[in-house]
Amino acid sequence: MMQRWHRKKSHFPLVAFIFLGIIVCSILYNESSIQQVHEEDPSNQGPNRQQHATTVTYVKPNLGTHSNLAPVLLDRFSRCNSTSEYSGKRIRWGDSKVERGRRKSSESCDVFAGKWVFDSESYPLYNESDCPYMSDQLACHKHGRSDLGYQHWRWQPHDCNLKRWNVTEMWEKLRGKRLMFVGDSLNRGQWISMVCLLQSVIPADKRSMSPNAPLTIFTAEEYNATIEFLWAPLLVDSNSDDPVNHRLDERIMRPDSVLKHSSKWEHADILVFNSYLWWRQGPVKLLWSAEENGACEELDGLGAMELAMGAWADWVASKVDPQKKRVFFATMSPTHLWSREWEPGSNGNCYGEKMPINWEGYWGSGSDMPTMRMVEKVLGRLGSKVSVLNITQLSEYRKDGHPSIYRKFWETLSPEQLSNPKSYSDCIHWCLPGVPDVWNELLFHLL
Ligand SMILES: *[C@@H]1O[C@H](CO)[C@@H](O)[C@H](O)[C@H]1NC(C)=O
Ligand SMILES: *[C@@H]1O[C@H](CO)[C@@H](O)[C@H](O)[C@H]1NC(C)=O
Ligand SMILES: *[C@@H]1O[C@H](CO)[C@@H](O)[C@H](O)[C@H]1NC(C)=O
Ligand SMILES: *[C@@H]1O[C@H](CO)[C@@H](O)[C@H](O)[C@H]1NC(C)=O
Ligand SMILES: *[C@@H]1O[C@H](CO)[C@@H](O)[C@H](O)[C@H]1NC(C)=O
Repeated sequence: MMQRWHRKKSHFPLVAFIFLGIIVCSILYNESSIQQVHEEDPSNQGPNRQQHATTVTYVKPNLGTHSNLAPVLLDRFSRCNSTSEYSGKRIRWGDSKVERGRRKSSESCDVFAGKWVFDSESYPLYNESDCPYMSDQLACHKHGRSDLGYQHWRWQPHDCNLKRWNVTEMWEKLRGKRLMFVGDSLNRGQWISMVCLLQSVIPADKRSMSPNAPLTIFTAEEYNATIEFLWAPLLVDSNSDDPVNHRLDERIMRPDSVLKHSSKWEHADILVFNSYLWWRQGPVKLLWSAEENGACEELDGLGAMELAMGAWADWVASKVDPQKKRVFFATMSPTHLWSREWEPGSNGNCYGEKMPINWEGYWGSGSDMPTMRMVEKVLGRLGSKVSVLNITQLSEYRKDGHPSIYRKFWETLSPEQLSNPKSYSDCIHWCLPGVPDVWNELLFHLL
């Protein structure tokens, strides 16, 4: 067992009600079925119970077997014509054939529970300047960071050792395969880390990188293998799917469609998904596939993420054969925006931090517990079809691992900003070499 799993009964009372089978009427719309379920309100079961019924509409996600019926694609120019409150529609995904229980492993050690150990012998696993695919957003040494301690930490699980990172062995695992990372800029950092970890043993004329696009592909000819990154910060189709020109102010998503993205990821052999920070920026607009006039609904980030995870989970439940495809979900990457959380009385952020937090179980406000619970619930229902890359706690300790001011900033910094470094510090992404290398060692360990 990778993870200790706390399965609570009746996590999903609504599902139970469906199977109590009160009134189900099914309307087929395109290839997605919309079901009206009239259910009894569970709070009205006392002696003074009133005649009262609520209506919940369930929508089956659009997985795109008939692409001619695909909803109009959103792009960064998409706008809502009107916005109303969330109607309560939910994603209904099939899980009848999913076997319960987590993916079995030969060991029973929780590799995500452990501590950081300073190890300047074996770490870093590669040199920042030796990796031609390094990003200017993550190359902290190049951008002036002189304390390099952040590169020298090894993750040591409490009850076992991680498999020793071995480039040859990793390439053998990838031979003839497509490894694809799907998600936001944190996941892109993990992808760059993986490419940097692996590229050095491939001769320069036998490797290539495609131009930056929604799907960017590193190819290693000799191994007939690719390491790819697909930009899909909300997992489902959205108006933020351009990796460069995207808007954060009005995020519109199709809660019931992963179509645009799944057509790109469905043939990958190993998939690593993430999604988190894009849901932490206030409410999200929902544009259901059946809604053709741009009438949106608005929902808080956590609720919207749960809908998106539902559409994603339906894809996993219906399309993934765990014998043929490995699917991982990386949990929240924590931020370190408030130093008072680890050093009461202080007033900074990750800027100037040189050491990890040495406080077992530390959990800051950058990691949202309700989000974790929701993710746990969704992944729990997918059973052995998905493995968890539970990077949250171990990354929580690494307040020293962020670029802060040592990266390229695309916008021009004002003199006021420059005179107050913490005001423009990046305490979200991670320097490379650094923390994401360890996420990849964990992936290697679990593959
Ligand atoms: C990084 O570079 C230094 C000096 O240039 C070298 O001693 C070291 O072995 C290199 N490390 C790796 C992992 O290649
Ligand atoms: C790395 O893996 C390869 C292939 O599995 C193996 O031959 C080699 O001995 C390993 N190297 C180390 C240092 O363990
Ligand atoms: C290369 O890998 C792809 C799958 O990614 C496979 O379809 C193809 O047959 C492989 N080619 C060779 C020459 O092995
Ligand atoms: C908004 O309404 C207009 C006119 O009805 C329609 O042409 C347009 O497609 C709608 N916008 C969206 C995003 O659906
Ligand atoms: C990840 O680990 C934390 C403990 O560090 C645990 O609370 C959480 O439930 C785990 N999340 C998942 C999705 O397994």
